[in-house]
Amino acid sequence: MAEAEANPTRIAAERGDEPLRRAQEKIAQYIGADPKNVIFHVNVTHALNQALMCLKWPKEGEFIASDQEYGAIVNAARAMAKRNGLSFRTFEIPPRPRSPEEVCDAVLKALTPATVGVLVSHITTRNGLVTPVERLGELLRARNVRLIVDGAHGPGLLPLKLGSTQIDIYGGALHKWFMGPKGTAFLYVAGDLHGQMQPHIVGWGGTPEDSAPVKERLHGWDYRFQHIFRLQGLVDFSAFLALPAALNFREGIGEERILSRIASLAEYVRRRLEGDLKLQCLSPPADMNAGLVSFVSPEWLCTPDASEKIFQRYRITIPVWHGPRRGNLLRVSAHIWNLERDIDRLAEALSQPS
Ligand SMILES: Cc1ncc(COP(=O)(O)O)c(C=O)c1O
Repeated sequence: MAEAEANPTRIAAERGDEPLRRAQEKIAQYIGADPKNVIFHVNVTHALNQALMCLKWPKEGEFIASDQEYGAIVNAARAMAKRNGLSFRTFEIPPRPRSPEEVCDAVLKALTPATVGVLVSHITTRNGLVTPVERLGELLRARNVRLIVDGAHGPGLLPLKLGSTQIDIYGGALHKWFMGPKGTAFLYVAGDLHGQMQPHIVGWGGTPEDSAPVKERLHGWDYRFQHIFRLQGLVDFSAFLALPAALNFREGIGEERILSRIASLAEYVRRRLEGDLKLQCLSPPADMNAGLVSFVSPEWLCTPDASEKIFQRYRITIPVWHGPRRGNLLRVSAHIWNLERDIDRLAEALSQPS
């Protein structure tokens, strides 16, 4: 950003899109996708809105979303359905399944002949359930139903090989578990859907109907889908340009070491909160859980006053969800900057009403 602002009139001429393209190629490689199928976005909400709103949908049918989805994305799916004259419905997936097949069965059971699309999260926001999205991609492609995956918690927490799957759409955050800067995310669109999207923001890339996009050249990378759907207009791209540094940082530690450290911290969270404090765990067994571990919250914690007191005393923010249907839930997300003693501190905070 400093480099660009130091000489804003020359930076574009001197460097063009090259650094951005290189960042995109590196991220595409990290998620196992063809870079042509990847569009940078500022967050997952924007990414999945672009996919949902820009895809052509059949004139009738229904779109379904699991009951474990993040509210903003459910809103986007519902709005898309309404605009396209589709009906919208949520369906249940077991929050604590014993096997990936149980999740696949729940999705298949929810389908009707009218179903045209399904929204599921790769890792659910409420309790860190890992959805078998690769298998679902195969099952749904065979039934001609589109699979839209909310991958806000995927990149950086689970290895991805999107290009080898039959997932149609994947919106992934890079500013969460991946540890990229705020304002970095991507949309992955399977190659065969490129021709079925109409841009909702039209800029220099024009539209698919133009005989030639107004501006065809993207330094060294001429591909119309990219011209049409990439971020349009003047945007601060510096956060995206920092992604290769984030990737180098991860590589320096070792991807496998990062993932296994996150898993062992999650195990420690279970040991202290479920084992020692006897809080009921709401996450699935460890082999179907990643990163986020949820518990039934102690009743005394369910007031803003109690959370604030814990923050003042321990400097720990505890997200607690209040729900009439599922009760009160608290969620712990430990990353590599945490130590076991942070979790001990959390356990201490939770063991005594403030
Ligand atoms: C499952 C899920 N989807 C989508 C989002 C929204 O992500 P963003 O803020 O990058 O739009 C979140 C945010 O936490 C989330 O947990």
